[in-house]
Amino acid sequence: MDYQALAKKYDTPLYVYDFDQIAQNYNAIKSAFKARKSLIAYAVKANSNLSVLRLLANLGAGADCVSIGEVKRALLAGIPNYKIIFSGVGKRDDEIEEAIQKDILFLNIESEAESERIEEIAAKLGKRARISVRVNPDIDPKTHPYISTGLSANKFGVDIDTAKRIYLRAKNSPHLEPVGIHFHIGSQLTDLEPIKEASAKVAELAKALQKIDIDIKFFDVGGGLGIRYKDEETIEPYDYAQAILSTLSGTDMTIVCEPGRFIVGNAGVFLTRVLYEKRNKDKRFIIVDGAMNDLLRPSLYNAYHEIEIAGKSGDESKADVVGPVCESGDFFAKERLLPPTEPGDIVVVKSAGAYGFVMSSNYNTRPRPAEVAVERGEDRLIRERESFEYIIEKEVRFLV
Ligand code: LLP
Repeated sequence: MDYQALAKKYDTPLYVYDFDQIAQNYNAIKSAFKARKSLIAYAVKANSNLSVLRLLANLGAGADCVSIGEVKRALLAGIPNYKIIFSGVGKRDDEIEEAIQKDILFLNIESEAESERIEEIAAKLGKRARISVRVNPDIDPKTHPYISTGLSANKFGVDIDTAKRIYLRAKNSPHLEPVGIHFHIGSQLTDLEPIKEASAKVAELAKALQKIDIDIKFFDVGGGLGIRYKDEETIEPYDYAQAILSTLSGTDMTIVCEPGRFIVGNAGVFLTRVLYEKRNKDKRFIIVDGAMNDLLRPSLYNAYHEIEIAGKSGDESKADVVGPVCESGDFFAKERLLPPTEPGDIVVVKSAGAYGFVMSSNYNTRPRPAEVAVERGEDRLIRERESFEYIIEKEVRFLV
């Protein structure tokens, strides 16, 4: 891909997504589960651009949403309601109501209190809400603590006994219909064993529930499949699917899988332009026009993203790549071996397709970057760069 040409055409900072790669990633995970009925419910939070969602809708994907806003995005992009699930540890009443009205596939419940609330709302609407319970299997996923979710010390899901109580209550309620069971132990998982262990634990519960006539149709294994940012050993989709399927023999539940990062992560790059270099004593800084407000992962998680200077190589020395925001945490890389740069050079920050643009903000009154899709060799704008006027629109009329 000609990053210099794209940067010239659309300006920087810029997100660029390879739509063919996204399609390939989706197909890889879909076919890994081909031995069974499956729904790949893409985790919209990873990259919620409408054109990305439209691409996935056309491939047959469903959507895993964590706000009613995401549900509405998915619908707008053409993902049908019967392929949409609504997860999240805290849902507002109005979100629950709208999700029930829109007749989505199911709501993932994360507490007893939430199941009662959903029951009340469904009763008020004269409906029966399809639900699934997120079980916290209390397993260490061995990933970054901020994105680890399957330990009882985390705020997510309910323990097995609580899950059972919720299912029993739902079974006897005219307003709740338990149809699924769910777990998600963390993100950027690179170790198969914890997934298998969690799946086995939750499968056992699903089987026990089926024995008492609670008809669990969907086995929702969450997302979390890791990608290679640097040199991580990643899990092959086939092995991932086999690990899960091996715990499900004797059942015919439909697999629901909620990958986000795996589908879009390596299909996106963030392009930013060198403003200048400077040295403070021995330290070399490459100052670029992108910042932590555009791509937060390095600042927030100390995440590693590979970096390349488009069209340059050789004579490398260590440098920090930093943005213009007035925080020391505003960096893309530290002590990275990079060739000499000149103003105007394009810095390519790799693996930025997931949790990149979606976590951006207007901090320092910086307009959010544009987003571009490249599909079968053609590039096109899929989100316009924000303007100053757009940023202030919601406040300027209150000026007195
Ligand atoms: N399902 C549930 C219930 C989740 O909580 C998540 C991610 C996913 C699916 C999708 O996980 P994935 O397949 O993308 O790993 N901002 C962080 C990641 C936060 C992930 C939160 N939950 C980052 O930049 O690494």
